[in-house]
Amino acid sequence: MKALVLAGGTGSRLRPLSHSMPKQLVPVANKPVLMHCLDRLSEAGIREVGIIISPERGAAIREAIGDGAALGLDITYIMQDAPLGLAHCVRLARPYLGDDDFVMYLGDNILAGGVLALADRFRARRPAAQVVVTKVPDPRDYGVAEVDAAGRVTRLVEKPATPVSDLALIGVYFFTPAIHEAVAAVQPSARGELEITDAIQWLVSAGSPVTATEFTGYWKDTGRIDDLLECNRVLLEATERRLRGEIDEASEVIGAVAVEPGARIIRSRIVGPAVIGKDSLVVDSYVGQYTSIGGSCVLVGAGIEHSIVLDHVSVRDVRGIHGSLIGRSAEVCVSIGDVARNRLVIGDDTRVEVLS
Ligand code: DAU
Repeated sequence: MKALVLAGGTGSRLRPLSHSMPKQLVPVANKPVLMHCLDRLSEAGIREVGIIISPERGAAIREAIGDGAALGLDITYIMQDAPLGLAHCVRLARPYLGDDDFVMYLGDNILAGGVLALADRFRARRPAAQVVVTKVPDPRDYGVAEVDAAGRVTRLVEKPATPVSDLALIGVYFFTPAIHEAVAAVQPSARGELEITDAIQWLVSAGSPVTATEFTGYWKDTGRIDDLLECNRVLLEATERRLRGEIDEASEVIGAVAVEPGARIIRSRIVGPAVIGKDSLVVDSYVGQYTSIGGSCVLVGAGIEHSIVLDHVSVRDVRGIHGSLIGRSAEVCVSIGDVARNRLVIGDDTRVEVLS
């Protein structure tokens, strides 16, 4: 079985971060979302992976992920000139996929817990398509499935205004080559995309076996900043205490904390679960629970918790940072002087909350 990973698209809901990096590379627990996805595929015994990339963001993805050798994968990149939909990705990948079965995995979805059991189930039964569903309180943002008592899908609708059930499609789909006829048959939806949901519905209408498997573990479509912070919290729960950097006598490191090589902790307090990235410097600071500090950051006199900090960030003399996401090479500092003025140099679509 091959895998088709979708890492194109625009990522408009993740602005401002997605202005400068593909949303699939935003780190959660100090590892890009896409890397978590590749780990899941590798655990499921899949070796051949095609990754759909966009012209704008493809180079960054190639650079971060490479040819997959380090992950034990054989990766092929497939360029999609415009984000014309999930079914369009399958059309494009046809020469790569040939007549193999494959799992299609949305590169911005995070699943805690593997997909091995799901893959084994598909390998054993080989329906034309096996979708994965989970119960959500408000399914209107997702593809929604109606499933009978035997686990067969009877109807699928993409982002319905009035959902037929509370079962949302999560971003992992298993297909036999039967899907190729279906993606060739569908027309663009109201949002102008070739929907994979419509292609699977085409199979259902043609009488082909389409099954649904319920996923009960943690799943998140990391479309929004708050989703990333939540994923970060959940994935950091699995952190193992691993202190590979330097920690001085005056510092206190409590609980599940990973300090990466080259990092230095001086006169600081770190409370896990938390990760301090490679070559970062933390001086006279507090790093609290559920915080990922990226690589080569400098925190001096900082206080931060429940946050994601990307690489090369500097935070000086600012405490009480909570529920925040700080982009690459950003600087957060206190202005010096006796005039009560805040100086802000902020990129497009950014949000800053200042205590009144
Ligand atoms: O997250 C689960 C949902 O994903 C499902 O419930 C929906 O049925 C499914 O349509 C999809 O909905 P989204 O609107 O969230 O999909 P999104 O546009 O965010 O794209 C998902 C991934 O696929 C993302 O990593 C970007 C990539 N993509 C997307 C499009 C439209 C491409 O690579 N090419 C594309 O043309």
